[in-house]
Amino acid sequence: MNLLITGGTVIDSNGGRQADVHIADGHVVETCVPETTIDATGLVVSPGFVDLHTHLREPGKEEAETIETGSRAAALGGYTAIVAMPNTDPTQDCVSVVDFVRRQGITAGLCDVRPSGSITVGRRGTQLTPFAELAAVGVKLFTDDGNGVQDPQLMRRAFEYAKGLGVTMAQHCEVEALTGGAVMHEGDCCSHLGLPGWPALAEELMVHRDIELVRLTGAPAHFLHLSTARSVELVRAAKADGLPITAEATPHHISLTDDLLRSYSAIYKVNPPLRTMDDVDAVRAGLIDGTIDAIATDHAPHVSESKEQPLDQAPPGMVGLETALGVAIGHLDMPLADIVATLSWKPAKIAGLEEAHGRDIEPGSPANLTIFDPDEEWEVVPAMLASKSHNTPFVGVPLKGRTKHTILNGEFTVKDGQATR
Ligand code: NCD
Ligand code: ZN
Repeated sequence: MNLLITGGTVIDSNGGRQADVHIADGHVVETCVPETTIDATGLVVSPGFVDLHTHLREPGKEEAETIETGSRAAALGGYTAIVAMPNTDPTQDCVSVVDFVRRQGITAGLCDVRPSGSITVGRRGTQLTPFAELAAVGVKLFTDDGNGVQDPQLMRRAFEYAKGLGVTMAQHCEVEALTGGAVMHEGDCCSHLGLPGWPALAEELMVHRDIELVRLTGAPAHFLHLSTARSVELVRAAKADGLPITAEATPHHISLTDDLLRSYSAIYKVNPPLRTMDDVDAVRAGLIDGTIDAIATDHAPHVSESKEQPLDQAPPGMVGLETALGVAIGHLDMPLADIVATLSWKPAKIAGLEEAHGRDIEPGSPANLTIFDPDEEWEVVPAMLASKSHNTPFVGVPLKGRTKHTILNGEFTVKDGQATR
């Protein structure tokens, strides 16, 4: 398809400018004879978004999400690539499962689905997976997400092994000895409600341990879904020391606080938990000053029957792919180009996808693009989500910014706000 996008504001790592964009043969080109023209007046044209943290639930929990429904939700959110988390059943701990996820992604054709691999077999925390074999089939991020690796000796070996392979360990930071039975952030609200708490310290201790393991081994680390003020401080100091560390924050940790649990609704139960306003402010400040590199959704679909259980039994997690942009623009006091950086080229680099995604919009770049309205104010209606699960906490939260078109390898995956397949 030869496509011309006229009148939009192009935003990439060079900043913003008014420019027309020509696309032919799946790439941005100098000029083309257009078959289709899109009027992008008032819209932003940017490199496609890249999500470092998507739970697609297939294989194993297809009632909550499939690779197809999850990648459709991603495309509608403006994403052209997503990293699939490994806590599937079976676990993404071997080449066959990783290949299955990748192939299902290609079949769906809605988003570039890049499977992560688990750090330990079955995510059980006792035996490392075959990193080299997994790296050879393109796995770049390794994580036991859903759990942190508890054993410091095993984690040291993981970093040492990773270093020679050029892959990155991504940690879900939670010292489980401190969070047993927890349903929400440990603090005033939690004591008032009489519920078991998940202390900030449980995250911070593991952030601290892994920073020291990075210092020891020289291997890179990425911190998933940082949620506390002290975690942000630790990462800021580690980066100032020049350590190869990156970090992400979720849309819900920059917009929602623990007092929402007063409703006793498990829609607000998530790992790590919603924290205090001070933590929200610190995470926002971390994104603004670059301590936190990326916004990652931690899109975690769960069927309504499971989320309707009492707080202690309901699983943690929220969907987020279709609302991330609207939450980010609405809740971050930072220049639009910097917000797009946290959604696109910075996570693309962390995921090792910078050849195909997050590229500057110039001739020769693959046409993986998002066209969005930065000013549209809207409200999410759960039943309208493309995700198979509707466990969003953003009902009634004003959102600002919405995807209009998403282009993957020069073809529309979303056109006029509708998925094309
Ligand atoms: C995630 C899930 O449901 O898989 N849940 C969550 O609350 N974030 C796991 C995770 O990212 O830790
Ligand atoms: Zn996690």
